[in-house]
Amino acid sequence: MEERKRALSAIKPTGNLTLGNYIGALREFSKFQDNYETFIFIADLHALTLPIDPAFLRSNTKDIVAFYLAAGLDPNKTTIFLQSDVSAHAELNSILINYVYMGELSRMTQFKDKSQKLNKEAIGVGLFAYPVLMISDILLYNTDVVPVGDDQTQHVELTRDIAHRMNERYKKELFKLPQAIKPSVGARIMSLSDPSKKMSKSDPKGDIFLKDDLNVIRKKIMSAVTDTGHEIKYDQENKPGISNLLTIYASLSNMSIQDAEKHFEGVTQYGEFKKAVADKVIEVLEPFQQKYKEILQSGIIDKVLDDGAKKASYIANKTLRKVKKTVGLYIHE
Ligand code: TYM
Repeated sequence: MEERKRALSAIKPTGNLTLGNYIGALREFSKFQDNYETFIFIADLHALTLPIDPAFLRSNTKDIVAFYLAAGLDPNKTTIFLQSDVSAHAELNSILINYVYMGELSRMTQFKDKSQKLNKEAIGVGLFAYPVLMISDILLYNTDVVPVGDDQTQHVELTRDIAHRMNERYKKELFKLPQAIKPSVGARIMSLSDPSKKMSKSDPKGDIFLKDDLNVIRKKIMSAVTDTGHEIKYDQENKPGISNLLTIYASLSNMSIQDAEKHFEGVTQYGEFKKAVADKVIEVLEPFQQKYKEILQSGIIDKVLDDGAKKASYIANKTLRKVKKTVGLYIHE
């Protein structure tokens, strides 16, 4: 039997998940499980790169598992697990950290953005070395494709570089070179209060959170920053607010931006347009929130994670053994 290609991705449980996470990543994941061998995990070790309350980390991790299931991931098709339950991630990280250059890590946009907001003397080494763990996550599973939003593609590019570097160094195909896959619409959802900034869990102004009350969601959309003028047109430069709302609408309606523009042709009131966007977001999130609540109450999360950790460990440990052997660490058979 021909081996199926592998898809792998993750979300970091650092803050409440946003509509950006949903559109850029979460809703994309389940599209892979029928045709790819799919691994979706919670990057809980990555959540420690900035200070986080342990109780929040635990409950948020559980929430994300419930979100995965509510978004359609089927544990019989997709391996769902916690990064910290599969020790091979940390072990490969401690090997690969020697092959990634400080120069490469200091050029990562996400590190630059995050570290700018911190006192230089108190930036954790983990925040700097963050991509090495992500590289380990991806390479452990011989991943073919990594579904992510725009902001993670640079990390996947670095993963390719390191895979290539290791293959050259040890003169064998030790690792596959993975490819980032972005959604065609919605790879970068912007803040509703400042459409020049990405909607992000760590910067809650202008965010729609997946757990927000539906009335709050409607209010947030109705008061989203827009632009002068009255046409519903996609124009990132001159109409960033309208473009962002149009992207949200198009993505959740499974249409292209052009089709969404056509749909709103003739609408001249931003209020009417915003109401249509709010209706769409609520149409999608209402059943999603309902499923999320049912899943949390059903008590199936522990079993999903136990099974997932076993399956993931088996595959990850095989790769880890191969790497250890290759670099000279594993001397017994
Ligand atoms: P994280 O948790 O920051 O984000 C999870 C996913 O959501 C996407 N995303 C967005 N997409 C569109 N618009 C937005 N405003 C938006 N904000 C976030 C992200 O691009 C991402 O796909 N390092 C990763 C987690 C990770 C990982 C991995 C991912 C760890 N190991 C291995 C893939 C493969 C992260 O912090 O994502």
